Amino acid sequence: MNTQNLAYSDEVAKATAPIFDKLSKQIEKERWESIAPYIFEINRLKKEKNAVILAHNYMTPDIFFGVGDVVGDSLMLAQRAAQSDADIIVQCGVHFMAETSKILCPDKKVLMPDLNAGCSLAESITASDVRKLKEKHPNIPVVTYVNTSAEVKAESDICCTSSNALKIINALGAQGHDKVIMTPDMYLAQNVAAQTDVKVIIWEGSCIVHERFTPQDIIDARKTYDDIVVLAHPECPPDVMAEADYSGSTAQMDNYIKEKQPARAMLMTECSMSDNIAAANPDVEMIGTCQICPFMKRITLPKILKALQNEDPEIIIDPEISARAKVAVDKMLELS
Ligand code: 13P
Ligand code: SF4
Repeated sequence: MNTQNLAYSDEVAKATAPIFDKLSKQIEKERWESIAPYIFEINRLKKEKNAVILAHNYMTPDIFFGVGDVVGDSLMLAQRAAQSDADIIVQCGVHFMAETSKILCPDKKVLMPDLNAGCSLAESITASDVRKLKEKHPNIPVVTYVNTSAEVKAESDICCTSSNALKIINALGAQGHDKVIMTPDMYLAQNVAAQTDVKVIIWEGSCIVHERFTPQDIIDARKTYDDIVVLAHPECPPDVMAEADYSGSTAQMDNYIKEKQPARAMLMTECSMSDNIAAANPDVEMIGTCQICPFMKRITLPKILKALQNEDPEIIIDPEISARAKVAVDKMLELS
């Protein structure tokens, strides 16, 4: 990697000062001096190459606040990828998110700073599994969570994210479907099934991060802080959701905190999300438990810089699979 521009110069200090102001409670000055040159150089290269960085809410604060042009949940990142006029998209998140961007923008170069940033849900189901499900349950629409490979999306009728899953199942219900197949997250499917009259056939995948939370985590936190507001991602098990005050996608949880400004909040989700919310909402005290997603944490500033410099690793999808997957993603976007 070309490291000639990575000194903490006065120019770098000045340009990155507003970002450090926001993160000074989370990042010590000494560490900042090694981070800031990456932020500066990534932002310079983005302009030079007409690149945009789409950063998921689970990115660490240095990425989220330092270099992310669009930050949000899976749905928002997909929507903004579809609208982007950049030549290059750098996806800071996990592999399925980069694939979704490539499906929506086949003519753009989509870079993924680490191709091994996977997802336990995406790994839990293959295209062949979906074909077997369709044989077993003919004429029942397959609703597939975006946390899946392009091949799995290509076999599905419509995609969903955590923010629109219920809306999409209800829309299918309104079209006369009394049953749907929902893959691959069993907990998201169970949580949606509890809120609709449509019967949901479930695939037994799970998120290795959200499945670790327990109702006891919430009960214990409430013993210490009786005013705490607990927000849970719908990939959490139903017994956790039952103890929480609010459930939503990462962006919906973020909006809830922004709007309501509770004195104390606890998020049953990935750790960086709490860090980013704490930095953006200094009057809200973020409490307690969180879990790290090892896949999301594979994305780092040095890897982002390297990807932009080398324009590699690039996401490539078989055009026939991509076109079929796009039908399912587009249907979701139309309904969102
Ligand atoms: P969101 O769509 O809520 O951002 O969730 C994506 C994800 O991977 C959560 O684990
Ligand atoms: Fe996948 Fe869970 Fe990580 Fe989200 S948090 S990317 S669902 S493993």
